[in-house]
Amino acid sequence: MKILITGGAGFIGSHVVRRFVTKYPAYQIFNLDALTYAGNLENLKDIQKSENYTFLKGDITDAKYIDSIFKEYNFDSVIHLAAESHVDRSITDPLAFVKTNVIGTMNLLNSAKESWKNNFKGKRFYHVSTDEVYGSLGANGLFTESTSYDPNSPYSASKASSDHFVRAYGETYGLPYIITNCSNNYGPNHFPEKLIPLFINNIIHKKSLPVYGDGNYTRDWLFVEDHATAIDLAYHKGENHETYNIGGFNEWKNIDLVKLLCKLMDVKLNQKEGESEKLITYVKDRPGHDLRYAIDASKINKELGWEPSVTFEQGLEKTIDWFLQNQDWLDNVTSGDYKEYYSKMYQ
Ligand code: NAD
Ligand code: TYD
Repeated sequence: MKILITGGAGFIGSHVVRRFVTKYPAYQIFNLDALTYAGNLENLKDIQKSENYTFLKGDITDAKYIDSIFKEYNFDSVIHLAAESHVDRSITDPLAFVKTNVIGTMNLLNSAKESWKNNFKGKRFYHVSTDEVYGSLGANGLFTESTSYDPNSPYSASKASSDHFVRAYGETYGLPYIITNCSNNYGPNHFPEKLIPLFINNIIHKKSLPVYGDGNYTRDWLFVEDHATAIDLAYHKGENHETYNIGGFNEWKNIDLVKLLCKLMDVKLNQKEGESEKLITYVKDRPGHDLRYAIDASKINKELGWEPSVTFEQGLEKTIDWFLQNQDWLDNVTSGDYKEYYSKMYQ
C-alpha cells in the first residue's frame, strides 16, 4: 500500500504521518509538502529515517509535478491535508486560499482520477476538511453531515469549494472518496497564529492576549491525536462516498477557554493565580466572525466506534507541557516572517 499524505509537515498532518508510519510498517508513506510558513520538518524528526517514509518537497498547485509523482510512485490512496488553514490570513489574502485549497485539490483529484482510471477498486481519495464549511450556528443546534454548507470566510469558502469538487468527482467519475469535517484542533506542533498556541506563547513572553470582540464566540475543541485516530479509522473502515463529522462534544466560549488556559499556565509557570489573566486585552473583532461551531459526531461514533481519548483539561495540560518543553521549536517558528505577520495583524 502506497499512501500519499499531503501537508504532512503541518500541524495535523505531522500527527497523521507519524501515526501511519509507526503503526503500519507495511505501508509506504509519502509525505508531500511545500514547506510553507506552516510546514516544518522538525515536526517529524523522530520518524524521518523510517524505512517506510519518504518526504517529497512539492507544491500541490503545480499540476505537472503532481502528475509526475503519481506516474513515478503509483499511489494507492491519498490522504489530503495540505491547505492554507488560517482564517485571518484568508481575510488579507483570499486568492492564496483559492490557489492551494481549490486548485491544489483539483490537481490531486485529476492526477488520482487519471492514475486510477482503469480500476478504482481498492483506491481511496481521503479529503480532510473542516466544520467551518457549515457556517455559523446560533445558540442552539449542532452541525450534522446533512447540514447545508454556508461558509462565511474566504478560508471556509475555499474548503467548501474543495469538498464540493471531491464529491463531484465521486458522483461524475466514480472516484472513491471520503470526506471528514472536523472541529477546531489543538495540541503539540500547533502553529502559534491560532488561538491556543498563540496565547500560550504570549503568556510565556508576558505579551497581551488579544481576544477578538467580546470573547463570546464558541468553538468545539478536539485534541489533535484524537483527530489522527479518527482519520486512521475512517481511512480504513469508512464507506466510500460518505462524509463523517469529527468532534469531541467540547464547546467552549473563547473567553472561558482563555481564562482556563491562564489558570493552567499560572500553575505551570509557578505564578500567582490571576497573573496571566491580567494580559487579556479585548481587541477589534474579526470581520465575518462565525458565532458558534459545534459538531454532532454521533455518526462516526455509532458507525466506526470512534471517540476522543482525552478530556479537554487533560489535552490542554499535555499541550501546555509540550510547548514548555519545546521552547526551541516555538522560538524557531516565531522568528523571521512570523514577527512581520504578528506586527501587521496585532499592531
Ligand atoms: P497547517 O497550516 O498547520 O498545515 C498545512 C500544511 O500544508 C503545511 O505543512 C504546509 O506547508 C502545507 N501546504 C500548504 N500549502 C501547500 C501547497 N500549495 N502544496 C503543498 N503543501 C502545502 O494546517 P493544519 O491545521 O494542520 O490543517 C490540515 C488540514 O486539516 C487542512 O486541510 C485544514 O483545512 C484541515 N482542518 C484543520 C483544522 C484545525 O483546527 N487546524 C480543523 C479541521 C480541519
Ligand atoms: P482560530 O484559532 O483562528 O480558529 P478558527 O478561526 O478557525 O476557529 O480562532 C479560534 C477562535 O479564537 C475564533 O473565535 C477567533 C478567536 N481568536 C481571538 O479571539 N484572538 C486571536 O488572536 C485569535 C488568533 C483567535
